[in-house]
Amino acid sequence: MCDQLKEKMEENRAVYDQPVIDYGNLFLFPAEILVLEQFREQWADFAVLDLGVGAGRTAWVFSQNAKRYDAIDYAPGRIEHCQNVFPAAAHRTFSVGDARDLSRYGDESFDFILFSYNGIDYIDPEGREEAFQEIKRVLKPGGWFFFSTHSLDAFPFRPPVPRRLSGILKPLGLLWRALISARLRWLNRKVNVQEARERGWACLVDYADMVTTYYIDPRVQLERLEDLGFVLEKVWDSRGQDYDFEINHDEWMLHYLVRK
Ligand SMILES: C[S@@+](CC[C@H](N)C(=O)[O-])C[C@H]1O[C@@H](n2cnc3c(N)ncnc32)[C@H](O)[C@@H]1O
Repeated sequence: MCDQLKEKMEENRAVYDQPVIDYGNLFLFPAEILVLEQFREQWADFAVLDLGVGAGRTAWVFSQNAKRYDAIDYAPGRIEHCQNVFPAAAHRTFSVGDARDLSRYGDESFDFILFSYNGIDYIDPEGREEAFQEIKRVLKPGGWFFFSTHSLDAFPFRPPVPRRLSGILKPLGLLWRALISARLRWLNRKVNVQEARERGWACLVDYADMVTTYYIDPRVQLERLEDLGFVLEKVWDSRGQDYDFEINHDEWMLHYLVRK
């Protein structure tokens, strides 16, 4: 089962290596804006590592502000894209690399590491652990790790939020929602919800569709971070609200800021 999962999740890399159409999508999540603000006075002194940089959504702001900025992605196509669109700058590099093996970087090299938009969720469970260990190794003592991850609270998936439709479009919209929900239920039919809850994580096919995605119970993620020796600073939901671990949410994505 684990080997199959590993193989399946390894296929995610090929998906990310395909050309994408939303290269121009430069929005930031509210939590990312809050973090930029929180460290406003420190960016100029920070060495930043951006893992799974993708098409460079975060690179525009995080690289502008940092003293040094290194970005890697295991999909060569994404790195080629970043190298093409970002003007050359001495403090900024984009290179092909895997978050599970950061051996090119020495111990305690970075002040701030980010793995944004759930990039860590496309790695199999074993590789995820390796990535966390590597991140901890290359962070300076007192350094920050900021990442987001999918929450298992969102599973089983609820139908997508309907757009405001009227007339003939309304029944079509409802039919579309029902079809998407049925398709996701089918694709995840082998996942036992109860077992996933007890284990604390599951690998699922979600609205991103072509990739297999790791979802983790937020309380299990927190325990894991604490086991690794990280201290929790803050968790936000996708709207930038503080997250309360005591309350059951149906939030799909959480942003964690932790300190070594
Ligand atoms: C959802 S995209 C997010 C891209 C970007 N971080 C952002 O916030 O827009 C996830 C990215 O993580 C990359 N990725 C996934 N696993 C990786 C790994 N083990 N090492 C490096 N990059 C990885 C993928 O290639 C993809 O570009």
